[in-house]
Amino acid sequence: MNRRQISADLCSFELTRADGPPLFRQLYLQLRSAILSRRLRSGTKLPSTRELAAQLDVSRSAAVAAYEQLLAEGYTSGRHGSGTYVSPDLPEPIDGNPQRRKEPAAAMTPAAASPLQPIGDFVDVTAQSDERPFNLGRTLLDARTVQLWRKLSARTFRSLSPSHFGYSDPRGTIELRTAICDYLQAARAVRCDPDQIVVTAGTQQAVDIVIRILPGMDKEVWVEDPGYPLTRQALLAAGATVRPIPVDRQGIDISAGMKSAPNARAVFVTPSHQFPTGVVLSMARRLELLAWAREKRAWIVEDDYASEFRYGGRPLASLQGLDEGERVIYVGTLNKALFPGLRIGYAVVPRALLRAFIAARYLMDRQPSTISQAIVAAFMEQGHFAAHIRRMRLLYRDQRDELVTALKARLGDDLTITAPDQGMHLVAFTRPGLSDAAIERAGHHHGVVVRAMSRLYVAAPPRSALVLGFSGHPRPTIIPAVERLAHAVEGLSKSRARKRSAGPKR
Ligand SMILES: Cc1ncc(COP(=O)(O)O)c(C=O)c1O
Repeated sequence: MNRRQISADLCSFELTRADGPPLFRQLYLQLRSAILSRRLRSGTKLPSTRELAAQLDVSRSAAVAAYEQLLAEGYTSGRHGSGTYVSPDLPEPIDGNPQRRKEPAAAMTPAAASPLQPIGDFVDVTAQSDERPFNLGRTLLDARTVQLWRKLSARTFRSLSPSHFGYSDPRGTIELRTAICDYLQAARAVRCDPDQIVVTAGTQQAVDIVIRILPGMDKEVWVEDPGYPLTRQALLAAGATVRPIPVDRQGIDISAGMKSAPNARAVFVTPSHQFPTGVVLSMARRLELLAWAREKRAWIVEDDYASEFRYGGRPLASLQGLDEGERVIYVGTLNKALFPGLRIGYAVVPRALLRAFIAARYLMDRQPSTISQAIVAAFMEQGHFAAHIRRMRLLYRDQRDELVTALKARLGDDLTITAPDQGMHLVAFTRPGLSDAAIERAGHHHGVVVRAMSRLYVAAPPRSALVLGFSGHPRPTIIPAVERLAHAVEGLSKSRARKRSAGPKR
């Protein structure tokens, strides 16, 4: 690896300055992860601690401490004065398969992503609990829903019966499965009956179960690129070989998928609102995807998150509803439609997979909580769910409009913003020369959480854009937060201008 590549790799390091672990530890972990994943190969010379400190804007002592730790643990070697090198005698990746390492860079295997590396190093478990605007995946509940939730919870607790206390059907209660089935048939044209529905803790658990039950040792799967990181990470953690497939204006590019991995066992897609781009999978691509799955006997996992929140335009019904060959596993979540702390979602499972799916769910944690299911079932049966969605749709649409107007007014020269017809976030492309990752970092210091879209790409050429959630942030908080974001962007432009006027260093 040459110096430029090393430098680019170091620039992708993410250091949390406020309230994070000590900087030396973060540096040590990220260097270790780069070494273990072979992004920094054996024998590569690392930059000096002085260079590293300057490049990452950390103190020299943090860089020295990180290097000392790597040296002590044998990840690097070096003689005083002659530099630090990635150790030549690191263990082989866990699968020890030299063929694997020759695979194209676009393939991510669990070993390539993390040989000997604990999952903990590549998953950030704190990101989603940040409540600041414009963090993603957050929802609001109005007074009416809160009041109804309290009432139904109290009623459920008052009428607890032996059925609530014992083990029950691992698929979930028949009452909840029936309510979900009625809703899906009416709202998303899903073909189902309650026997095919399995209640899960959410999308995350459904994805995990699917990968566990896929036949074959080599679980090669397609994911969208850019895509939802938690799906990719769950797949890697569960042992899949992940093939990132590019997304264009029509959604996932099926021809590219067929070229990259024609015999993949499954594909994970977000057809109604691609995460993060918001693109809708075109009808032509839907048919192409279904035809490929039928021919190859592959499975399509349709993640239909946030389909409830549609603000305009004509919705496309679910992909599952078009499927004549029972190749689609439809996955939905009440953690977005209601609230993330609920931890209830569902899968509509093709009959051929049903026994395996239920068995895997049972082995994981037996069954969903009976009490939560009873509350949700009552909420749905009594028509409160549909009414809640109608009210939240109006609320989120107003928040979306407020955010779009504020961004255009304050950052219209720096960002290109379009209001999405669906979902809980929007994408704002940055003007050339303005880096989304730099804005993400600066935003944190100004109390705003924006996601750099470029970081959600794996192999496709990244586009620089900000991903901003609007669903969880009440209207009065939006303009002040956009103001803080604008300060962050202005700060970046000023520091670039200062650097330019200072001229090249001698
Ligand atoms: C693409 C996508 N799918 C699904 C979910 C919901 O996941 P869960 O049901 O596990 O909370 C999210 C939440 O952010 C998401 O962005």
